[in-house]
Amino acid sequence: MATPTWTPTSWRQRNALQQPEWPDQGAYEAALKKLSLVPPLVFAGEARTLLSSLGRVAEGKAFVLQAGDCAESFHDMGAPAIREKLKVILQMAAILTYSGGLPVIKVGRIAGQFAKPRSANTETVGDVELPSFRGHIVNDDPFDEQSRRPDPERMITAYQQSAQTLNLLRAFTKGGFADLTRVHAWNQEFVRSSPEGQRYGAIADGIASALSFMAACGIDLSESAPIHQVDLYTSHEALLLGYEEALTRQDTTSEHGDWYDCSAHMLWIGERTRGLRDAHVEFLRGVRNPIGCKVGPSASGDDIIALCEVLNPDRIPGRLTLISRMGAKKIDVALPPLLAQVRDSGHPVVWSCDPCHGNTFTSDSGLKTRHFDDVEAEMVGFFDAHRAEGTWPGGLHVELTGDDVTECMGGSDDVTDASLPDRYTTVCDPRLKPRPSICSSKNFVTGDGNN
Ligand code: PEP
Ligand code: CO
Repeated sequence: MATPTWTPTSWRQRNALQQPEWPDQGAYEAALKKLSLVPPLVFAGEARTLLSSLGRVAEGKAFVLQAGDCAESFHDMGAPAIREKLKVILQMAAILTYSGGLPVIKVGRIAGQFAKPRSANTETVGDVELPSFRGHIVNDDPFDEQSRRPDPERMITAYQQSAQTLNLLRAFTKGGFADLTRVHAWNQEFVRSSPEGQRYGAIADGIASALSFMAACGIDLSESAPIHQVDLYTSHEALLLGYEEALTRQDTTSEHGDWYDCSAHMLWIGERTRGLRDAHVEFLRGVRNPIGCKVGPSASGDDIIALCEVLNPDRIPGRLTLISRMGAKKIDVALPPLLAQVRDSGHPVVWSCDPCHGNTFTSDSGLKTRHFDDVEAEMVGFFDAHRAEGTWPGGLHVELTGDDVTECMGGSDDVTDASLPDRYTTVCDPRLKPRPSICSSKNFVTGDGNN
């Protein structure tokens, strides 16, 4: 059967889950019109470079680290938040590169990660029912009528904040902050004295020694871009399809006039919106960016193969990253058959591990949390499954912050139910903070020690 023609608007004929009910359609269309005229946030050529780097991951020759906030916030958009998040990503990537001996492709959940899927359209407190909070790109988090009213102008603010964030990230990553000779400076003050901070210090010493050794051998690194600059790509869940469509542009430099979603280098489809015939899959099948798709425990092998066929019919390595988020208790049983079926189909996917989203629960104090032991157990299960099937555990996808928060339980600080509320600042899911995040990456490498 011939595949129906794709256009940037063809998703509108399909079932679009998780979209807000905009109270004023005129204002919504006007905001989209404005967005369709703004400059792109990223360029097609950058997305193509990421695609080929992810192709190396698909071949088992590199790792991908995708990390950042669950939801970025309009209330926390200053330079410190961006800088601290970047530091953690650089630290984790340094550990992975040094310990794994392979290139690590760095992708932030940043500069556009605003829209959130929700389990219900409304939230009820007492006898008041209001629209659910869907991320600052849609509405505000306080529980009152005014805040929860979806406001399309927020899409413009989200675009502007993404542009500002990306501008600073480009400056940090190309302007000296991410220089490998500054590897010690990425260790944050509140992490430095912890066991993980000290372990990181030892790795940083090793990296510094390797650089001095090469210099002593007469290898001139002063002009070497990979030492002094970092490529950090952006990504977010492509949830709000009107916004994504408005930022989709035809690449004038390509022979075929390919379409790119220029809101980020990489976009992913969430666990709740991966219906094969639904709008999100329809939209993303037509843009040429590298894309991801979350895969939870309800997915069958046939579901995944069907998604591979629709999202990557030309079998381009790096085009599709399957982000497994099974939950610690289910991964051992759920993941291996999927790995085997995809391997046998010959689809060149990247497999990445999201150890966060299958392990969320509500604590006794009523806060959404995750236990660090579960996060760790899921990562171990991910590596075990790949080792058993002879497939490549290509990456890690985590929610983290650069701030000293208490949102996940356990970890080296042993955050308990009672101490969770101390510094619980997320606007959505609980995030790992630098210490557990660093620890995670140690386990990531340890789990992979035999490869
Ligand atoms: C997320 O990554 O923030 C998310 C909502 O994930 P999932 O779709 O896997 O639940
Ligand atoms: Co989340």
